[in-house]
Amino acid sequence: MHNYKHRQIKKQEIKEKYSRFARWYDAVEAIPEMLGLKKLRKRLVEKASGMVLETAVGTGKNLIYYSRDCDITVSDFCFPMLEVAVKKAKRLGLKARFVISDTENLAFCSGSFDTVVDSFGLCTFYDPIAALKEMGRVCNPNGRILLLEHGRSSREWLGRWQDLRADKHERQFGCRWNLEPPKLVAQSGLKVLSIQTTFFGIFYLIEAAPVIENKT
Ligand SMILES: C[S@@+](CC[C@H](N)C(=O)[O-])C[C@H]1O[C@@H](n2cnc3c(N)ncnc32)[C@H](O)[C@@H]1O
Repeated sequence: MHNYKHRQIKKQEIKEKYSRFARWYDAVEAIPEMLGLKKLRKRLVEKASGMVLETAVGTGKNLIYYSRDCDITVSDFCFPMLEVAVKKAKRLGLKARFVISDTENLAFCSGSFDTVVDSFGLCTFYDPIAALKEMGRVCNPNGRILLLEHGRSSREWLGRWQDLRADKHERQFGCRWNLEPPKLVAQSGLKVLSIQTTFFGIFYLIEAAPVIENKT
């Protein structure tokens, strides 16, 4: 696995990259979305309930799938990405709060949300463990953390190919595509409740709870 601490680029560069990507992000992602990501997004978000925080929301690709009963807050540290999400929510007639916030240092009180959602954030966070810890902090103790992530393929030949190109890919897109999301979640101290993988073991749907229960 790529060491999550070994970065090719600085956090400010990640923000600048996504500020530049914002205008064409949805167009470039249209093909993978049609090939199956939409279904995964729907499966992720249909488990959300109550007070919901979606972090690193990007252009708001999940917004369409939330139940109208959810009370939604979304955040991202990149203003141009969030701007696209605001327009999308307006078109959908969806009420949500939009907050500029760094997922590694979330601007919310502990235990404020019943569900915390993140899709394709772990690969871009400068410190994904800090981000996961923050998701756990702002989630209430009985709440759920729902993740849709991508990582190093479970097929060794493909994983090795990703490893070879990982540094270049990160410098180009700010995304580390050979992390192992289940290991990061376990390292962060969150309790993993379920993991589903698909597409050559690249995509992960992970359900987690805020803290590991004490075994007495
Ligand atoms: C690959 S995009 C994913 C966007 C969206 N969640 C999706 O599923 O399409 C990564 C997003 O993470 C945001 N991001 C990266 N690091 C962040 C951080 N530390 N805090 C908040 N947002 C961050 C970027 O601005 C970008 O919008």
